[in-house]
Amino acid sequence: MGLSMKPLLRALAGETLSSPPWWLMRQAGRYLPEYRQVRAKVRDFIELCSSPALAAELTMQPVRRYGMDAAILFSDILMIPHALGQRLAFHEGEGPVLEAIESHSDLARLDFDRAIARLEPVFETVTRVRGALGTQTALIGFAGSPWTVATYMVEGGASRDFRRVKSWAYRDLGGFGALIELLVERTVEYLAAQISAGVEVVQLFDSWAGILPEAAFERWVIGPTQSIVAKLKSKFPECPVIGFPRSAGILYERYVLETGVAAIGLDPTVPTDYARNVLQPVIPVQGNLDPVLLMVGGAALEDAVTGLRHSLGQRPWIFNLGHGVLPQTPPENVEILARLLSGPIAP
Ligand code: CP3
Repeated sequence: MGLSMKPLLRALAGETLSSPPWWLMRQAGRYLPEYRQVRAKVRDFIELCSSPALAAELTMQPVRRYGMDAAILFSDILMIPHALGQRLAFHEGEGPVLEAIESHSDLARLDFDRAIARLEPVFETVTRVRGALGTQTALIGFAGSPWTVATYMVEGGASRDFRRVKSWAYRDLGGFGALIELLVERTVEYLAAQISAGVEVVQLFDSWAGILPEAAFERWVIGPTQSIVAKLKSKFPECPVIGFPRSAGILYERYVLETGVAAIGLDPTVPTDYARNVLQPVIPVQGNLDPVLLMVGGAALEDAVTGLRHSLGQRPWIFNLGHGVLPQTPPENVEILARLLSGPIAP
């Protein structure tokens, strides 16, 4: 572990740093005036993700302003369904809307063969950003996990009860399994291409891991993740995979022990003592400040960050939020956060 290694990579390799490396999920986004300025130029969010010059600029914006230890590729987990040919639109204020698929026969409508080639602009963004980053800042690539991507593909967007995707998964193991298997393969190729283009770490976002009973969690979250991690490891043994099975509760432990991920992203509900005593002895953890505390600021933010530094900071740890930055977050609070994370910890 050379001293010249980037702080994020040192923490991922198991080193405990005196001030934690940090980055924020959704660090590029509507809370930044410079993001809104670029966003206003392009009608369609997908077009933004498919324009290397703009996407590279958006990736760099938060790093330029705050000096995080990592940049995360500006893109979206729904670029895979989009590349598969599923109709996708982002409507102002209501999130993504997809033309839903709901059965095995619908898979024939998707173009699994040409999907990765259609994502070429994303890889071009990676190459541009990697060239623009300083020697201490790592570049993170990402994909949604097959389960989470499938929830959007089958529900056609956000959902309250996930009854469509769950009923397909419960009713038709083979048919739904075929969708998951195809997503596993494409996710591996997609992440492999990001790594070849210059990302140094990848994160798998499993935003909806936490809605499944244990047997389904094992089948649709642990299994596919294990398979993606193993395939990436065989091609790119140096590239750490961070898993983020949001809201997995006590199933975090099985995920950590069974998937092979190099580090684990924690949502805000994971208790600090559990993270420190059960998870951190096994792998580095990442998280898990409540994004609302970053929005609120003041003493509440300061106390929470200091508390995390005292507890998780004694073992390998990457500071992050437990979920994405809220658009209502005052940009100056991120400046305050950067100061709270650097230098010695307040008693
Ligand atoms: O973290 C980053 O800064 C990198 C870029 C990034 C985006 N989305 C940009 C984005 C990443 C890593 C994501 C991941 C993502 N996308 C997830 C997993 C993490 C999570 O939040 O649970 C999910 C579920 C999505 C799907 C998605 N994309 C939704 C539900 C929405 C609409 C809700 C919202 O916040 O607007 C998006 C849109 C989106 N993705 C925006 C950004 C900056 C907002 C687009 C806009 O400008 O209107």
